[in-house]
Amino acid sequence: MKFFKGKKQSRGSERQPESLGQDKDSAGQRPGDKHKTEDVFGIITTEKPGFFEADQFRVLRTKLFFPASGKRPRSIAVTGAEVGEGKSFIAANLAVCAAQNVDDRQTLLIDCDMRLPTIHRMFGFEDGPGLSDYLSGEIPLSAVLRKPPADKLTILPGGRLPDNPSELLSSTKMSLLLQEVQSRYEDRYIIIDLPSPRLIAEAELVVRQVDCVIIVVSYGQTLTSHVNELIDIIGKDRISGIVFNRFDTSMHSSLYRMYKKFIRRK
Ligand SMILES: Nc1ncnc2c1ncn2[C@@H]1O[C@H](COP(=O)(O)OP(=O)(O)OP(=O)(O)O)[C@@H](O)[C@H]1O
Ligand SMILES: [Mg+2]
Repeated sequence: MKFFKGKKQSRGSERQPESLGQDKDSAGQRPGDKHKTEDVFGIITTEKPGFFEADQFRVLRTKLFFPASGKRPRSIAVTGAEVGEGKSFIAANLAVCAAQNVDDRQTLLIDCDMRLPTIHRMFGFEDGPGLSDYLSGEIPLSAVLRKPPADKLTILPGGRLPDNPSELLSSTKMSLLLQEVQSRYEDRYIIIDLPSPRLIAEAELVVRQVDCVIIVVSYGQTLTSHVNELIDIIGKDRISGIVFNRFDTSMHSSLYRMYKKFIRRK
């Protein structure tokens, strides 16, 4: 399924013969991947609401939360097979879009990447306490939640880098937190920015505790074999779809602008 077509980014190379990606080391890492904290692509759903790309998030929201068949999920994990595909970008924009719904549902966005949390920065918050600090038992949950300007949205940032992120992610406290936020707040969407279960084994435990998963693929970069490995780890039945990020949308965008002009003239 192709839900989202983000802007093409120039850090990728040409498509390789045996893969959809470029050369990486065994962990699936590319040179220059530890970048992200500086050039954040942003919350385009609020910064550029009229753009084609922002509209794709609304399409994604509809497909996920109003499925033609099946049950409406409340908790969604956004993950990927490698690093840097745009998981946080997709999770953050999807959360903003979910919060912009017409019903009264609140949205909670949880950054489960305790090694390199970025969600809070996307919303302009300084580094500070978050999930890791709550799970370490140092701070109550209410003290680490953040309210960005977006209506009906709450963020649980990743927190300060702990010594034991894997243990925290697989802790009973983490499971209880997921159970509690899902059962206590019936009228809430929960979106989880989750590191790859292919690279961080404990992330699989989170996957098992949510209603569904979406996989972010960086178009032309992510290796097909890595995506297949991830699908085997997660299980097809838990996956709601694949989001192709960094797809070149220039053609679609100009058609979209023409379409919008046409609609305005009518
Ligand atoms: N569609 C896009 N177009 C342009 N830049 C993008 C796009 N999606 C993401 N980016 C940028 O690419 C970088 C990586 O994105 P992001 O941090 O969302 O990836 P990630 O999968 O969460 O990374 P990690 O595996 O480290 O958690 C960021 O600088 C982000 O702003
Ligand atoms: Mg991330």
